[in-house]
Amino acid sequence: MTRHFLRDDDLTQLEQLEILELAERLKTDRFQTRPLAGPQTVAVIFDKSSTRTRVSFAVGIADLGGIPLIISTANSQLGGKETASDTARVLERQVAAIVWRTYAQAGLEEMAAGTTVPVVNALSDDFHPCQLLADLMTIREHRGELAGLTITFLGDGRSNMAQSYVLACATAGINVRVASPAEYAPDDAVVADADAIAAKTGGSVSLFTDPIEAVAGVDVVVTDTWVSMGKEDEKAARLQSFGQYQVNAELMALAKPDALFLHCLPADRGFEVTAEVIDGIQSVVWDEAENRLHAQKALLVWLLERA
Ligand code: CP
Ligand code: NVA
Repeated sequence: MTRHFLRDDDLTQLEQLEILELAERLKTDRFQTRPLAGPQTVAVIFDKSSTRTRVSFAVGIADLGGIPLIISTANSQLGGKETASDTARVLERQVAAIVWRTYAQAGLEEMAAGTTVPVVNALSDDFHPCQLLADLMTIREHRGELAGLTITFLGDGRSNMAQSYVLACATAGINVRVASPAEYAPDDAVVADADAIAAKTGGSVSLFTDPIEAVAGVDVVVTDTWVSMGKEDEKAARLQSFGQYQVNAELMALAKPDALFLHCLPADRGFEVTAEVIDGIQSVVWDEAENRLHAQKALLVWLLERA
């Protein structure tokens, strides 16, 4: 049966590890496999802006022997004019996979339910699972085994990045902490799903409102923009609410001395993170951005093997 990747917990711990290990092999030998030779086409659809996701999928699909077809929703019939499921039925006759950056998670679910080709979530309002594969790959490169590490995400706990951290880390057996104002805590249902996974993998999920308590002694510190795409109208209130969650040198000093700093980018220096931290020696954000390419190639190879 076709496998899709709509949320981080669409993979088991073993499957996640399999993809991360394949990503590492593809990083050392970039053109070793060409499952899209033909060339076959992969549709990559954007309802929201993107630099990294657009480039890494386009380059990755080409590396795998295929052709990326980048579709902007504004110039397509998607986005009110045609349903996701009708679009899926049209695309599946011609493309090997569908990658989609969108708003509602429900749209991705509708697309996946309507097609026999793999559908990949390239960011929704709720999750950013491709980013988490790259983040976990980066952490493995710098720290080795994932299970047993402790990672803190600070800022907007309800964001796609925070919620993907919760699910992906629980899957990997990591102790994940989210520090956010109470009203921006991750969704209860996401936390419940992650708790159930963590009970099997040995990970854990803990929610904090105090950023100082949340970063004490941790292996990895992560943040993301306080104003995700689609939330621009709430900017003023958000800047007010998230001020005390800024990752600065004082906060980083409370984590382990060699703690890593990650950020999916784009970053707003001076808001969620200071320039000193993101441009400092503990930051691995450029490896993280490069690893989007390798992780997504591994994901596509893995999904195409099962299609
Ligand atoms: N991190 C990330 O997804 O970046 P883009 O919005 O540039 O794709
Ligand atoms: N949380 C951010 C991630 C951007 C890659 C957003 O959704 O805008």
